[in-house]
Amino acid sequence: MSISVGAIQLRNRVILAPMSGVSDAPFRKLAHACGAGLVVSEMVAGRELVERRGDVVRRTAGRNRVAPFVIQLAGREACWMARGAELAQDLGADIIDINMGCPARQVTGGYSGSALMRDLGHALRLIEATVAASKVPVTLKMRLGWDSQTINAPDLARRAEAAGVQMITVHGRTRCQFYGGHADWRAIRRVKEQLSIPVIANGDCIDIAAARAMLAASGADGVMIGRGSYGRPWWPGVVAEALVPGTGRREPSLAQQAILVLHHHEGMLTLYGHEIGNKVARKHLGWLIERKCEEGWIDAAQASSWRERVVRELDNRRVGLALKHFYLELQDTEAEAA
Ligand SMILES: Cc1cc2nc3c(=O)[nH]c(=O)nc-3n(C[C@H](O)[C@H](O)[C@H](O)COP(=O)(O)O)c2cc1C
Repeated sequence: MSISVGAIQLRNRVILAPMSGVSDAPFRKLAHACGAGLVVSEMVAGRELVERRGDVVRRTAGRNRVAPFVIQLAGREACWMARGAELAQDLGADIIDINMGCPARQVTGGYSGSALMRDLGHALRLIEATVAASKVPVTLKMRLGWDSQTINAPDLARRAEAAGVQMITVHGRTRCQFYGGHADWRAIRRVKEQLSIPVIANGDCIDIAAARAMLAASGADGVMIGRGSYGRPWWPGVVAEALVPGTGRREPSLAQQAILVLHHHEGMLTLYGHEIGNKVARKHLGWLIERKCEEGWIDAAQASSWRERVVRELDNRRVGLALKHFYLELQDTEAEAA
């Protein structure tokens, strides 16, 4: 089953989630190269984009861009969403995604993100303004509702489709759950049943079995993976390949991972500069080591010593060397086990 967003056909059914501070251009580029069906930028506020404030220039920069280029907009005023959508298109966006899922207080406190699900009339006006200002397809990302008493995702989704939205992603939690508990994949089915546009299920897709279970429970057309990609940007492509062979990429070998991880590290240094790049890289490299510990390649004591050498190192050249040694040791372990 293939997914089309307007005239844009996705190469598979597994999407890398927008994650502020994580799914930046180097991460997206790698996820895309490793077979993700679609990658989505970190959110930018429509107004900040128009006024070129904060780090929106970096977030929407064309450098490292992969096609289709998806810019995610957040906001609470229709006029800024419309102007933001126009500017996003000028910047080369092929798809504009509207954020109605973010639970963060600084976002919902400004009545954007998932707070919009408390007032569907207002949410609709934002959607209509964005669609009217866009020549490219508009998609929408939402939660199930504000809280368990107000599950209104099916209603919002139906009205959004009527307003011209071309794909909807549902994170199977309410805003009040933040990231607690488990995503309710079955609840996403009630959205899917209402719509003829593609529906993407999101929340807790941590492994291939979860991806299959999510698709079965929700009836969705595809899955979106966020935190499951921490420390392994190749993961959406691997899940896509497991779901439908030939549409994604197989898990890279340790030698291939070493090249990808070093490339990712260099990409972050280039984008942010050496000092900030070092800080940004720390979290990704920390996740990488944690992941290899979870996968059983190293034990907790080894993970802690690698963290010291890789994550706490301020000299980026030494970080690169330590990463090479890290992967050489993993390859030795693999060879011994063979
Ligand atoms: C660090 C972080 C940043 C996020 N930033 C965004 C964002 O910018 N826009 C958005 O729509 N959702 C954002 N989300 C939510 C994710 O896209 C996704 O809906 C959520 O993490 C659930 O999926 P998962 O269980 O696969 O991680 C963010 C989540 C995390 C963990």
